Amino acid sequence: MRTVYVNGEYLPENEAKISIFDRGFLMADGVYEVTSVLDGKLIDFDGHAKRLERSLNELEMPHPDVLPDLLEVHRELVRLNDLEEGMIYLQITRGAPDDRDFVFPDPEATKPTVVLFTQSKPGLADNPTAKKGIKIISIEDQRWARRDIKTVQLLYPSMGKMMAKAAGADDAWMVEDGAVTEGTSNNAYIVKGNTIITRHLGNEILHGITRAAVLRFAREAQMQVEERSFTIAEAQEADEAFITSASTFVMPVVDIDGASVGTGAPGPVAARLREIYLEESRKLAI
Ligand code: PDD
Repeated sequence: MRTVYVNGEYLPENEAKISIFDRGFLMADGVYEVTSVLDGKLIDFDGHAKRLERSLNELEMPHPDVLPDLLEVHRELVRLNDLEEGMIYLQITRGAPDDRDFVFPDPEATKPTVVLFTQSKPGLADNPTAKKGIKIISIEDQRWARRDIKTVQLLYPSMGKMMAKAAGADDAWMVEDGAVTEGTSNNAYIVKGNTIITRHLGNEILHGITRAAVLRFAREAQMQVEERSFTIAEAQEADEAFITSASTFVMPVVDIDGASVGTGAPGPVAARLREIYLEESRKLAI
């Protein structure tokens, strides 16, 4: 059984409790982060911590007292659960006032709820799927307009994964005004020659921590990077396509809406980026 963290306490998972009035439960009034763990160490922790703080600020959510100590809490959970490879999920909500109300509660009276738990995924780095790639479908992007904030409003992305499954695919890329925004839980890329193309930052997509690292490594490896919109048609014609996220790292995409990308097998750029990302991230892990 896992040991989880809830509001200052480390507890067995079946003893952890949250109020039915918690605004995360009633209003999806919460933000989250997923940090991967390799060799028992945290990947890109600082990036996740910075984005978390930004999400809290954008929603005017009070900072929990534990915020400066989150690195220690992550490490303690890794230790208590003997986590070698997997993820740590963290969620902060605006807390549990004593009734349901659309108006934000008084931050003096209602403290944020903080929950963290581990997800053990042996073989996360050595994922065999990276050798064969994934198939995706395109769907309309019907999420709210502030996708740069990492909120727990994941119903539409969850429906998107189910639409993909129903179509015999692995995931979905979302399209708005004719351009790809991102994957249901990852950033989207195409490759043309030596150029990596991925949507520019803005409110339309989550500013992926893996995205930032991969683009940095790509530039250091003398690859060209273009941050701009692209269409599904352009992606289907590309040499390669891939996604990035804390849980998939760099994952090749070999089929888009039934059309093979490139040779229909993972290409050299995605494979190389995955290798560099894993190697460099392991070196920088804390
Ligand atoms: N998802 N875009 C969306 C919509 C995401 O949900 C995520 C992450 C990303 C990639 O961000 P990062 O590289 O910082 O993980 C992009 C996490 C992994 C999840 O919801 O499980």
